[in-house]
Amino acid sequence: MQFLTMDLDTFSQASFLGFAALAAYILTLLPTNLRIVFPLTKKTGFPQWLLKYRRFIGLISFFLTVVHGFIFFKQRNFDVFDITTYFVYFQGVATFIIFTLLAITSNDWSMKRLKKNWKRLQSLTYLAMFLVTWHIWDKMADHWTYLTPVGIAAISATIVLVLCRVLIKGQSRPQKDKSTQDKVTVLNKSVE
Ligand code: HEM
Repeated sequence: MQFLTMDLDTFSQASFLGFAALAAYILTLLPTNLRIVFPLTKKTGFPQWLLKYRRFIGLISFFLTVVHGFIFFKQRNFDVFDITTYFVYFQGVATFIIFTLLAITSNDWSMKRLKKNWKRLQSLTYLAMFLVTWHIWDKMADHWTYLTPVGIAAISATIVLVLCRVLIKGQSRPQKDKSTQDKVTVLNKSVE
């Protein structure tokens, strides 16, 4: 791992745009996770602020990705009609498709139209989290820039945070179910 030998490369403009897109994407995942894993952060008002601007930050991330991908497509002369291009850049392209779906459905109209499916669609963001990690790991292998360790650390910390949130929610669910069950029993008894 280049990071351990501190033999890091300087980064290009396109890599910086990818990194900025990643940073914005991570910000969109933060509010819900902070609220559940670190409830005290609510007092700072930061999760609420992020929540308020989440859609906007998500759109910024999407546009940065468009430019990031476009520059590499041009620079490396990708053949858009050659299927192998999509195999080689599978993770990046798949993440980009998810970002596109999220960007076009991040509005009240889509939310109303898609109803339950809207939440399902939005949860693709968690798949993107793993795909983008794979994308960076794969595409930056052997030529890490100064941005790579920061990007890898940030997205790994986000994954840990999401897993903690799932764990916390999973633990609190049986308690909730039990209290609902208790209420039903009390109601049934009072009916008898
Ligand atoms: C259209 C799809 C995409 C293509 C074609 C693409 C292309 C690339 C390429 C070729 C690299 C390696 C750069 C190098 O060798 O220096 C790279 C790195 C990177 N990409 Fe993408 N990418 C795409 C989508 C994404 C998406 C959706 C994100 C996430 C927000 C992203 C974030 C990054 C990051 C953070 C790096 C590492 C930059 C660094 O550490 O210096 N990319 N991408």
